[in-house]
Amino acid sequence: MRSLPLALLLLLMSASCASTSAPVSQKGLKDVLADDFLVGCAVNSSMIDGRRPKADSITRRHFNSIVAENCMKSAEINPAPGVYNWAPADSFVAYGNRHGMAVIGHTLIWHSQLAPWFAVDAEGHDVSPDTLRARMKAHITAMLTRYKGKVKGWDVVNEPILDDGTYRDSPFYRILGEEFIPLAFSYAHEADPDAELYINDYSMTKPAKRDAYVRLVKAMKARGLRIDGIGMQAHISMEEPTLAEFEQAIDSFASTGANVMITEWDMSALPVPTMSANIADSVAPAPDLNPYTEGLPDSVAMAWNRRMADFMDLFRRHSDQITRVTVWGTDDSMSWRNFFPVRGRTDYPLLFDRDFNAKPFVDSLISTNF
Ligand code: G3I
Repeated sequence: MRSLPLALLLLLMSASCASTSAPVSQKGLKDVLADDFLVGCAVNSSMIDGRRPKADSITRRHFNSIVAENCMKSAEINPAPGVYNWAPADSFVAYGNRHGMAVIGHTLIWHSQLAPWFAVDAEGHDVSPDTLRARMKAHITAMLTRYKGKVKGWDVVNEPILDDGTYRDSPFYRILGEEFIPLAFSYAHEADPDAELYINDYSMTKPAKRDAYVRLVKAMKARGLRIDGIGMQAHISMEEPTLAEFEQAIDSFASTGANVMITEWDMSALPVPTMSANIADSVAPAPDLNPYTEGLPDSVAMAWNRRMADFMDLFRRHSDQITRVTVWGTDDSMSWRNFFPVRGRTDYPLLFDRDFNAKPFVDSLISTNF
């Protein structure tokens, strides 16, 4: 290449780096909230491998924690017995370590996105309790051994309890009973004694579910099991839950002595036919369920920002109990809410819009602090 003036060459080089390596100098959410809690986002492989550079810039500017949206789930990472698809998770962990972020592993034991072989025998029948215990221990040990010292904490068990406080009829509960949860936590602690261990669920303000988790975590602590945190996913809507219900749940969970974490925060701006976050509970599309395909009306956008700001204020008032607030994605276009509970919708659930601009309440949170 004909020699170019150095200044122009440097300019071209920096432009070619795009935002995947450009320094992030402006203050962001992680700076505003530094004295309150870690602030994180769920990331997926399309951002980690550089296909979404603006999402990468948002992540590095605003967040000091990341969680794997899908790449660490058993169906993705352990698709067959003894077979591990480590590369996406390795890249995810390396990205977080490279940027000094608290890396969260999600999730070790979950009925959804469960590797199809995990709990069944060659004929497709439930395996024996001993076999399932062995498979759980092998999977958990492989995961925590590989990422020891690189992952701050793990969602050990995800969504094991129903809104009415009873146990979900998952293969884990069906085969092992309630003991599958303490077993998972003991396997995790044995594999990495330094890792933080969490239990995680949605709709945690439902009284029966909330109280079931309080009993469970207190009982686990009484047995001397390590459980550091209770994750409230916080997939909320414009109507549910109320701030008072959410605050009561924070206080209830904090009473167990565990940390409280907001682990998957998003708020649909659309009609929400179900508050379930269980992917199997999807609802058939209908025009009235997807009313804002061309953008939110100002009145709805203002209400959405106000309610999100109210929840952030609530979290900050409880920062002595809440150690992390994580949103389930960076920008509206990547959100699972665009296809759940209704496929093919245009939703507006996250902190950054489809043009990667901060929502007004985020902008004002930052501008009033710097
Ligand atoms: O990877 C396959 C791809 O190979 C295939 O071509 C494509 C076709 O549908 O599917 C891809 O898998 C999708 C996967 O996300 C990865 O993108 C699944 O269909 C899709 O169902 C899956 O959705 C994830 C959902 O969990 C599954 O339950 C969402 O991205 C993820 O945001 C969501 O996250 C969960 C949390 O882990 C736990 N809490 C609830 C939350 C929402 O369900």
